[in-house]
Amino acid sequence: MGFPEYRPRRMRRNENLRRMIRETSLGVDDLVYPLFVVHGRSVREEISSMPGQYRFSVDRLGDEARIIKEHGIPAVLLFGVPGRKDPLGSEAYAEDGIVQRAVREIKAAVPELLVITDVCLCEYTDHGHCGKIEGGEVDNDSTLELLALTAVSQARAGSDMVAPSDMMDGRVGAIRQALDREGFKQIGILSYAAKYCSTFYGPFREAAESAPRFGDRKAYQMDPPNWREALREVELDIREGADMVMVKPALPYLDVICRVKEEFEFPLAAYQVSGEYAMLRAAAHLKWLDGERAMLETLTCIKRAGADVIITYFALAAARLLGQQ
Ligand code: PBG
Repeated sequence: MGFPEYRPRRMRRNENLRRMIRETSLGVDDLVYPLFVVHGRSVREEISSMPGQYRFSVDRLGDEARIIKEHGIPAVLLFGVPGRKDPLGSEAYAEDGIVQRAVREIKAAVPELLVITDVCLCEYTDHGHCGKIEGGEVDNDSTLELLALTAVSQARAGSDMVAPSDMMDGRVGAIRQALDREGFKQIGILSYAAKYCSTFYGPFREAAESAPRFGDRKAYQMDPPNWREALREVELDIREGADMVMVKPALPYLDVICRVKEEFEFPLAAYQVSGEYAMLRAAAHLKWLDGERAMLETLTCIKRAGADVIITYFALAAARLLGQQ
């Protein structure tokens, strides 16, 4: 088969032909919307490096959750900014911690909206690292206990699924065991299995006040040049009991998404992170790109690469556009 018998352009001549042979479709069902929660009352403050994204106080979450649900988005992912930071990040696993209160509020307002909670310590520790510091390093095994405590306390508050993003070894198993022991066998784990040490987390760290005070995260998050290692990370997490695995960031790591999907027939999420959002918003603001089209194109491409679920700050904006089509 070749030219002139086969002319690929014939099937691109109009929108109905293109619709019929389209291989990937992006839908609102695929989206998860991340939310930042802060202490205080009536707070809805815009994050300067993430225009259109806000930090909400707990009392503003009910309204936001209703809007999210009305747009058909199935789930939110919660991040908390604590009132007080300490070396062990104790607000992460406090019963009245910011995320625990946020979960209760959302579940009371919109019970059917799925609530996923990020499990990590970096927002809660005074040093800004994702675990307990011992001898100047993040100690893996003693951090596991704190992560398990965090997951259990989030489950107790009503979280539907916990999402560990710390990148400690063995944390999925430790969290699974703790949840089962405490009677939360039905609570799922979305593991940030292949989370790279990426500069694209910059705006998030402003929003969540979670930048490390010394050093960096290279000793626990993955090295960007590696993809084989990502397959090993995913395999470990599936064996330890993850219900869904994640690749993060998304757009610069489409090859990793694709390889993970090919290797493991397993539910896969991709996180279009804060820096990806900031980059697209900045270019759109300068009128260097058509913002809406760039948004839908990137989301569709992340889906095409193999993601079943996309965590994105564009979730609401995309849902509005998809609803009009
Ligand atoms: C916490 C965490 C981070 C992100 C999600 N969970 C930041 C980091 O690892 O430094 C990044 C999300 C984003 O950039 O949108 N460990």
